[in-house]
Amino acid sequence: MSKIIFENVRKEFGSGLQVLNGIQLDIAKGESHIILGQSGCGKSVLLKCLLGIMPLDSGDIDVDGISIKEKKRFSEYLRKFSILFQGNALFDSMTIIENVMFGARLVAKDKERCRRSAEEKLFAVGLEQRVFDLYPAELSGGMQKRAALARAIAIEPEILLFDEPTSGLDPITGGIICNLLKDTVRSLGVTALTITHDLKVAEFLADRVSVLNNGKVVWTGKTHEMEICGNEFVVEFHRASNVILKKSHRII
Ligand SMILES: Nc1ncnc2c1ncn2[C@@H]1O[C@H](COP(=O)(O)OP(=O)(O)OP(=O)(O)O)[C@@H](O)[C@H]1O
Ligand SMILES: [Mg+2]
Repeated sequence: MSKIIFENVRKEFGSGLQVLNGIQLDIAKGESHIILGQSGCGKSVLLKCLLGIMPLDSGDIDVDGISIKEKKRFSEYLRKFSILFQGNALFDSMTIIENVMFGARLVAKDKERCRRSAEEKLFAVGLEQRVFDLYPAELSGGMQKRAALARAIAIEPEILLFDEPTSGLDPITGGIICNLLKDTVRSLGVTALTITHDLKVAEFLADRVSVLNNGKVVWTGKTHEMEICGNEFVVEFHRASNVILKKSHRII
């Protein structure tokens, strides 16, 4: 389990676009925290900054007392994380079990042990033995998501990052995957950070949610408090999400 602190993080792009404009964020050990915000508000940039993929312009990110700026400890910092990518990012030319072992091999040199451990992870996410030697393209979207989750947990991370975990899935499969993520986070006892614009996902997964707008975290709290929190943007985001859901329900 890990504690994550964003301290006044800023990130600007060439044209003067200030995407992150002083992010303050404090994620407790073992918490399931959600970053909610509109398309283009900087959620993915925030994730890239957290993983050191994008350098910060200023500010700091601290994980368990290790600053992202401590070059000598960066591999120790990075080892704490595992990410479930939006598009799953499975390797097309590797079978499902090879995909999972590819992650696990980073921490274990014994191949047999690695395979057994990969099988355990695949069973844990609800996949059956018959799919282990298939290629990603031979699996449904929901099964691919399960396989990607198995790969993400194979390295036994302290922090799981979920980037738009239900996008591209139908509502029923999305719901099943959300349940699986929740159970996985709980059983592993890890800290989880989920990026989404989907209020329903947030309501289901979050201990707390932070709302991003104009480059800042404008509010942090529990999803059921959003409606009454007094922040105009948060209230509007909550209201609009529900209106969209009701409208789309009617169309169906
Ligand atoms: N490498 C880059 N160079 C220049 N601008 C960038 C770069 N990466 C992101 N941006 C800009 O930063 C802003 C935030 O992008 P980001 O991808 O973080 O949004 P997001 O909140 O993840 O959106 P979505 O919900 O659609 O995924 C956008 O205006 C985007 O164009
Ligand atoms: Mg994004």
